[in-house]
Amino acid sequence: MRDRLLNLREEAVAAMGAVSDLEDLKKLKVKYLGKKGELTTILRGMGTLSEEERPAIGRLANEIRTYLESMIANKEEELQDLALEQRLKDEKIDVTLPGIRRTPGSLHPLMAVIEQIEDIFIGMGFEVAEGPEVELDLYNFEMLNIGKDHPARDMQDTFYISSEILLRTQTSPVQVRTLQKKEGKVPIRMICPGKVYRRDDDDATHSHQFMQIEGLVVDRRVSMSELNGTLLAFVEKMFGEGTEIRLRPSYFPFTEPSVEVDIFDSDKGWLEILGAGMVHPRVLEKAGYNPERYTGFAFGMGVERIALLKYDIDDIRQFYNNDLRFLHQFQSV
Ligand code: DAH
Repeated sequence: MRDRLLNLREEAVAAMGAVSDLEDLKKLKVKYLGKKGELTTILRGMGTLSEEERPAIGRLANEIRTYLESMIANKEEELQDLALEQRLKDEKIDVTLPGIRRTPGSLHPLMAVIEQIEDIFIGMGFEVAEGPEVELDLYNFEMLNIGKDHPARDMQDTFYISSEILLRTQTSPVQVRTLQKKEGKVPIRMICPGKVYRRDDDDATHSHQFMQIEGLVVDRRVSMSELNGTLLAFVEKMFGEGTEIRLRPSYFPFTEPSVEVDIFDSDKGWLEILGAGMVHPRVLEKAGYNPERYTGFAFGMGVERIALLKYDIDDIRQFYNNDLRFLHQFQSV
């Protein structure tokens, strides 16, 4: 029995030398020292020993247990240290390396311009409306006093979907939709930003799809001077205090009188920025407003054009190419 104990010790020590991770060490501990382990098995044979042998063997067995336990404890500590060292090595970060710079996204310059314009008009009591891009001929033309044979239809080459349905060529149909929605009530102060479509060949100043902002004010005794004052206030907020405007007589079927509005730029002189006028009595009438009682003004501007002027951009296509080198320049706008 003594030999078996000594063999067991030798074997256990040898096995321990080969162990390289904590899991194996645990198994080894169970194998030799566990309740059903080899040491216990040997000691179960104690009954066959003589009275004299028993204390010596018992002492030896205890010594071996203590010895192996401390060996295992040491080994465990050693393996834990190794594991920690490995983890520190694996998880090491070099805090002196430059970080990954994340560039924040930003609004597209056209959206930024629309938001600025909306803010200015909201500040003057306007509501923001929306209308469909697929529109009825009725709203895009007829109700705006542009009959089937009206020459103005030629100015706005139209994408037709059917004979009565089209892609809107202007945001002006939202004037009609707003009037109908308000059912004869005043005051109306609305602006409407949105996309419009025309059968144009794309170049530096034309695009088959672009954006407009429509404006409509209807109330009792709305006058041309109110149109002038509203647009001047807008222009000064958009292009700077003291910016001058000029109203030139023009023609639109849905306004009478009609004007085109220019702003003055010290380098480039007078620049056209929008069309406007007093709402044509026939437009009011068709939409259920008595033109004897109510008057109004309307205006429509091209968003791209405003953005080109404000940021001194020379090609409208820049807005649609999605070149990040271009877009990144508007991060703070
Ligand atoms: N709808 C016109 C266009 O696309 C622009 C316009 C002119 C709108 C005068 C208006 C207006 O509301 O009063 O050319």
